[in-house]
Amino acid sequence: MKLLFERSVAGRHLDLIPKSDTENYQLPEKYVRKKEAHLPQMSEVDLGRHYTELAKQTHGVNDGFYPLGSCTMKYNPRIDEEMASLEGFTQLHPLQPEKTVQGSLKLLKKTEELLCEITGMDAMTFEAAAGAHGEYTGLLLIRRYHQSRNDTERVNIIVPDSAHGTNPASATMAGFHVINVPSNENGGVDLDALRKAVGKDTAGLMLTNPNTLGLFDPNILEITKIVHEAGGLCYYDGANLNAVMGRVRPGDMGFDCIHLNLHKTFATPHGGGGPGSGPVGCKDFLKEFLPHHMVKQTETGYTMYDPKQSLGQVRSFYGNFLVVVKALTYILTLGKEGIREASGKAVLNANYMMHRLKECYTVAYDSICMHEFVLSLDDLKKETGVSAMDIAKASLDYGIHPPTMYFPLIVHEALMFEPAETESRETIDAAADIYLELYRKAHEDPEYLHSAPHNCPIGRPDETAAARNPKLKYEFHDQ
Ligand SMILES: Cc1ncc(COP(=O)(O)O)c(C=O)c1O
Repeated sequence: MKLLFERSVAGRHLDLIPKSDTENYQLPEKYVRKKEAHLPQMSEVDLGRHYTELAKQTHGVNDGFYPLGSCTMKYNPRIDEEMASLEGFTQLHPLQPEKTVQGSLKLLKKTEELLCEITGMDAMTFEAAAGAHGEYTGLLLIRRYHQSRNDTERVNIIVPDSAHGTNPASATMAGFHVINVPSNENGGVDLDALRKAVGKDTAGLMLTNPNTLGLFDPNILEITKIVHEAGGLCYYDGANLNAVMGRVRPGDMGFDCIHLNLHKTFATPHGGGGPGSGPVGCKDFLKEFLPHHMVKQTETGYTMYDPKQSLGQVRSFYGNFLVVVKALTYILTLGKEGIREASGKAVLNANYMMHRLKECYTVAYDSICMHEFVLSLDDLKKETGVSAMDIAKASLDYGIHPPTMYFPLIVHEALMFEPAETESRETIDAAADIYLELYRKAHEDPEYLHSAPHNCPIGRPDETAAARNPKLKYEFHDQ
């Protein structure tokens, strides 16, 4: 497909930007560009076709099934986008006087209250821009807490081996040492290993529950107790909250602080790198360490304040405000019952799909799952040479986005499926039929699967090169 600059023809144009009705302003000479800017020159219809062609080459939730495990690629109701597009929200300036943005401050406070009710926390900041950023912020809270008690020996964060990769990465970035604890044979935290791992040097534990195997740890109260008794704090990675919202609360499981991924659980589409939001919630005793720009209601209205021992600012201004607008709309439109129903359906759908695939495939930890489940294609690979990657790539030819591959790391040839609550039984049945068909194909014609996909614009790119040396800008010949 041609790029915009390759489609460009000198002299073509379109008038997208309205004529300015303000006086011309002469920029100081030092800011004036010396050369013409490289801008593609094209007509409106050609520009429209370019983006339509691009859109056709990608896969989103509106195109078809998207069971990308750990990512909660659920359908996000249109009304959430509509609310976030209201001019009263989109035209705000972050430096506007508080008295002119009372509605938006109220919205932040209301969302904080509702998310605290859902998670069992006492306060929440919206500054962090995504899940990993929330983890980092939460870990800084834990650090501040220990520092405030002069408990400076606490330098270790315990992370189970099933954790999402961002957990150890955030802990390291926040200045901690990471101590790994293994999983037990049921996929939960090995309690004996945890007891051995904790001590005077334990700053805290980071845990996802349900974990990345899609399993709810039945020992969760014991786990948080072990860490607390050792003087550590418990951090809940809330990226998997979609499985339990409206049913159990991290605060009641014994967690002291958490982050949420609004861009998974609370209705912001993601996957293309768009804005996310990773609000960080905490119990009362950590409130004073939260980042700047907390909102409170006073007699004269809503106002922002910086907590007394705040860890400072973790992002410019107040986070991704429009994502918060979507989250509030989502919560209010679903209501208490709807939130509970959504998590119930997410779990039902995952169990149904797992049950269908078990006809051929091996489930890594064969028990009732939560919102996602993990297959191990180790046996299939040994029998046929067909790998998890081959099956995932082949599903693209059937209009299905591949499941998450080779994660979690503790499962060989892993494929992780998260069908999400918004999928119908018909969609899940159709997808299950395709995966069962691919299993049979693996035995009959493995070569076909090794070279899949056969009908996509891109087949098997060099993923390492794409990650390490991304080509993100057009190379002009005159540069
Ligand atoms: C369990 C878990 N924790 C943390 C994250 C990180 O979230 P983000 O991608 O928003 O940084 C993810 C993302 O997939 C996740 O699945």
